[in-house]
Amino acid sequence: MATLSERADAIEHEMSMELERRAAERRPIRSPIYVSGIYDPASPRHDMFDALADGKTFLMGPDPRIPPMPEKPTLMDFFRLRLGYTAHLLQSAKLARDSGQDEKVVLACLLHDISVIGFISGDHGYWGAQMVEPYVDEEVSWAIRAHQILRFFPDPSVGYEYPEAYIKYFGADFTPEPYIHEAYARIKDHKYYMTGRLICLNDYYAFDPNVTVDIEEFEDIIGRNFRQPAEGLGYDHSPSAHIWRTMNMPTRAL
Ligand SMILES: [Fe+2]
Ligand SMILES: [Fe+2]
Repeated sequence: MATLSERADAIEHEMSMELERRAAERRPIRSPIYVSGIYDPASPRHDMFDALADGKTFLMGPDPRIPPMPEKPTLMDFFRLRLGYTAHLLQSAKLARDSGQDEKVVLACLLHDISVIGFISGDHGYWGAQMVEPYVDEEVSWAIRAHQILRFFPDPSVGYEYPEAYIKYFGADFTPEPYIHEAYARIKDHKYYMTGRLICLNDYYAFDPNVTVDIEEFEDIIGRNFRQPAEGLGYDHSPSAHIWRTMNMPTRAL
């Protein structure tokens, strides 16, 4: 007789096999940016074209292995169904809110690393800012873009030091590339400088597993400060709609 947990495992295994089978009928595609280094970027993509030889087709819609999104997805839907580990964003936003920061700062903190957990890590401040730009005050997107630069530069006037965690992450010998220094020179006297700096100050580097914050806590701030398009994120023809569609259907072939 199988124990309860053995039966639960068997059911779970069967479910994941079924998901694999459903995905396998149409081959999900990983874009070159995600497989370069695993494959030689110049080589023919055998992982893709073998699927055709097997009589399969490429996936051209939602990936059945990840939860379906509503027809008109909201920012909250992306938080719940598409973004990766959101705790860092939620904890940073909570820090900003609990220290009495303006709602724009809280929203900027809530969204500052959205690209890291939903899209692309490299140059994440720029990608993240571009993603939210059509829907937020320019101060918010400016600050999200700037935090990527400012986090490397101490500001003793507000007690911000080079993050200890970065020595662990990037090594003690890491120095930012020249474009980072150039960008810093361009933004350090900007009128929104302090908003970008406040993201760094509330950036919750500790990633405390014991602090749980729910996205619902920020529903009202999002409602007042994020212009949710009626058509749904991805379908409003804004300059960044395509980024949201890609996050919605990350393995669509074309
Ligand atoms: Fe960041
Ligand atoms: Fe962060």
